[in-house]
Amino acid sequence: MKFKTVAIDGGAAVGKSSVSKECAKTLNYMHVDTGSHYRTIAYILLDKGIAPSLGEDAVSQALKGVEISTLIFGNSARMSVGGKEIEDSLIRTDKVNQNVSLFAAMPQVREFLKGYQRSMEGVAKEKNFAGLVMEGRDIGSVIFPNAEIKIFLDADEETRRKRRANEGISDSISKRDALDKNRKTAPLVRPEGSVLIDTSNMSKEEVIAKTLALIAEA
Ligand code: C5P
Repeated sequence: MKFKTVAIDGGAAVGKSSVSKECAKTLNYMHVDTGSHYRTIAYILLDKGIAPSLGEDAVSQALKGVEISTLIFGNSARMSVGGKEIEDSLIRTDKVNQNVSLFAAMPQVREFLKGYQRSMEGVAKEKNFAGLVMEGRDIGSVIFPNAEIKIFLDADEETRRKRRANEGISDSISKRDALDKNRKTAPLVRPEGSVLIDTSNMSKEEVIAKTLALIAEA
């Protein structure tokens, strides 16, 4: 079977994570959530007392001391810092939600993560996964423009707000989306050659089935 790279992009709370994880598990592909990379960097910087308002030079300087590596849990590859896992409870806080897109708009932060994210194809092959599912905002447009299949998930705002509310997380999803769409470097766009799936009136199972069918055809 041919190794396939699947790029799944879309705005906040469109259902990227659950679909990506489930498809990866079904196909024995490695799953990478690049949103967690940006969240981890935001958490580390904030923890060092670096706010986005301090500017790109301060952020660049602080990133010099940040050493990233990878831990594999089942089908998921997680980015670790200084060899330590940074837990979900630390990167999914209100404070990180409020700051992550400001850091993610900085070219220095994106450059810092780009090579690492691209190297995940090699890691997936080395670990004998049958493919790679990577989710984010710029995977089909910047990280893997030649991915075998690119999917762009969308959903109307009310559906997305409801989904987040059900998770019990307060998140300014429209504010993050606006920042992500309007930044200069690697903005959130529907990548060229991607298949659009509007998940507003679909169940999670339907989105997974559709995605699996698209991957099989690719
Ligand atoms: O996917 P998630 O909502 O966890 O992503 C958090 C934030 O990380 C996004 O709002 C965006 O600012 C940033 N991000 C990005 N590029 C990616 C993935 C996430 O800029 N590929």
